[in-house]
Amino acid sequence: MISSEIEIPLEEFADKTFDFKELFGKEHVEAEIGFCSGHFLSEYANSKPDTGFLGIEYSRKFFLRGEKNLKRRLNQDNVRIVCFEAVAVMRELVPFASLDAIHIYFPDPWPKKKHHKFRTVRFENLIMLRNRLKKGGKLFIATDHPEYAEFMEKEIALTGAFFKRLPYGGDDRPIKTKWEKKQIADCWEIHYFLLEAI
Ligand SMILES: C[S@@+](CC[C@H](N)C(=O)[O-])C[C@H]1O[C@@H](n2cnc3c(N)ncnc32)[C@H](O)[C@@H]1O
Repeated sequence: MISSEIEIPLEEFADKTFDFKELFGKEHVEAEIGFCSGHFLSEYANSKPDTGFLGIEYSRKFFLRGEKNLKRRLNQDNVRIVCFEAVAVMRELVPFASLDAIHIYFPDPWPKKKHHKFRTVRFENLIMLRNRLKKGGKLFIATDHPEYAEFMEKEIALTGAFFKRLPYGGDDRPIKTKWEKKQIADCWEIHYFLLEAI
């Protein structure tokens, strides 16, 4: 149970990037985009007490729900969260080569073609995220949206000079997100991707 504030006051970072050493005092840092209720983030962070975690969620409603759950469930103080659009946070505030892993689970599918430009998982963002990862760092992605999965396949195929794709599936995930558990229970097919920064 965490009683202190875990939200990062973004206004203090208008002209500088995050200093993860100062924020976490830890060598290893991972980030989750769209942590929503914080179920995965709290369980995963509890399983890795020596790693710092940056959670990013842009819906204020979900952010507050996640913050409450995180404070209730975390066994140690290794998570910091921001309420803002994740691509902007990653691009502007996360230093190059600073992350060991990035997790993106069930990003909004933006199904209309004219809205594909809002998709988090697309070539331009993948390259930007690659630059925030350390060499050998991992990018974990999951979606239950078949057309977005196909789109991801194509975008990922263009990143061969930056990422190596590794085999990965549901059986490799001892800790699952809240949405993932629900979709598995409802027999939805889930598409998983694991990329290693080269
Ligand atoms: C379908 S929910 C999945 C939630 C959680 N990852 C899970 O698997 O249970 C997608 C979440 O990502 C958040 N989200 C979507 N796009 C985002 C973005 N660009 N920046 C930050 N949060 C985002 C949404 O507000 C929502 O909470």
